[in-house]
Amino acid sequence: MTVKPRADIAALPAYRPGRSPADLARELGLPSAVKLASNEVAFEPLPSVIAAVTAAAASMNRYPDNSAQLLTETLAVRAAVDTAQIAVGCGSVSLCQQLLQAFAGPGDEVIFAWRSFEAYPLLVSVSGATQVRVPLKDRYDHDLDAMAAAITDRTRVVFVCSPNNPTGTAVANGDLQRFLDAVPDSVLVVLDEAYREFVTDPDVPDGIEFSAGRPNVCVLRTFSKAYGLAGMRVGYLVAGDPEVAAAVRKTYVPFSVSTVAQAAAVASLAAEDELLARCQRVVLERERVVSALRELGADVSRSEANFVWLPLGDATMDFAAGCEQRGIIVRPFAGDGARITIGDPAENDAFLTIMSEWHAGRPVT
Ligand SMILES: Cc1ncc(COP(=O)(O)O)c(C=O)c1O
Repeated sequence: MTVKPRADIAALPAYRPGRSPADLARELGLPSAVKLASNEVAFEPLPSVIAAVTAAAASMNRYPDNSAQLLTETLAVRAAVDTAQIAVGCGSVSLCQQLLQAFAGPGDEVIFAWRSFEAYPLLVSVSGATQVRVPLKDRYDHDLDAMAAAITDRTRVVFVCSPNNPTGTAVANGDLQRFLDAVPDSVLVVLDEAYREFVTDPDVPDGIEFSAGRPNVCVLRTFSKAYGLAGMRVGYLVAGDPEVAAAVRKTYVPFSVSTVAQAAAVASLAAEDELLARCQRVVLERERVVSALRELGADVSRSEANFVWLPLGDATMDFAAGCEQRGIIVRPFAGDGARITIGDPAENDAFLTIMSEWHAGRPVT
């Protein structure tokens, strides 16, 4: 008899990472290729963060601080919450998994908008719970009324991704307020704010403020995007109720946030002004790219994140393949659209050149 995984795990699609720019450049015979596929920031790490990481690496023979005490305390002061309301994880995707392990299982339902962050379906399946996908409204936005209406007595968790990956749109203050008022206290609402630092619309709420006094609301944030630490793997949760954070800490894989990741995160918070100023440069580039796309006649949603979404439908895969032939890796979702990360100005110009050819009806290959 051969060993077999659980049938539901065997049925899951294998994770397929995007192409590496080094491989693509080699294949095309180019000096380099551009990756606009994973919503990273293009800036190099700050010298102060590299120095902190280098110093922390000296203790790599020891296990990390499992409670991430310094990072947790620093985050708590910054968010004006108690340390008991914080959980640190190996990226916010890990916190999504921990939340599902702690709050949902076979027979339970987990609601999320669709299309949204591609990890949700996978992680819900792994938890054994049932996915309930609520279609986006007008192609881009969370339909919070429909999501509230989809709640049953089996619903345990609802993810609200704002800004939404991949469409870039964010939920408005009044809509979120109304939604949270409609959700039963027994259902946990997870506000996934991986891109919060790129939001400029004043009508988009800060989830952490919303979670205050709401025991069934928690917020996910990450150091991967605005703070430029995607390779370090560190994110955090702020829960309205310390019991929620405690449950999430119980499903933490011990020591999974490394000493260097903790040091990088603490150093990044110390350099927050500089890092957030960089985000404003990304925002300016986003506005430039969106305007240029609109001038070309492209159908592009407003974006509050560090990427734009092109609903190209059946043309999506051809478009992405054409971009690759030109040395630019974007993130396609077959039959739906392509997500393009805002890169540095030269990278964005290269992408806009391809778009102008596409709109002129020329194949982009
Ligand atoms: C909406 C959303 N949430 C969470 C994550 C996970 O980020 P990380 O695990 O790097 O913190 C991502 C990453 O792309 C994301 O887009």
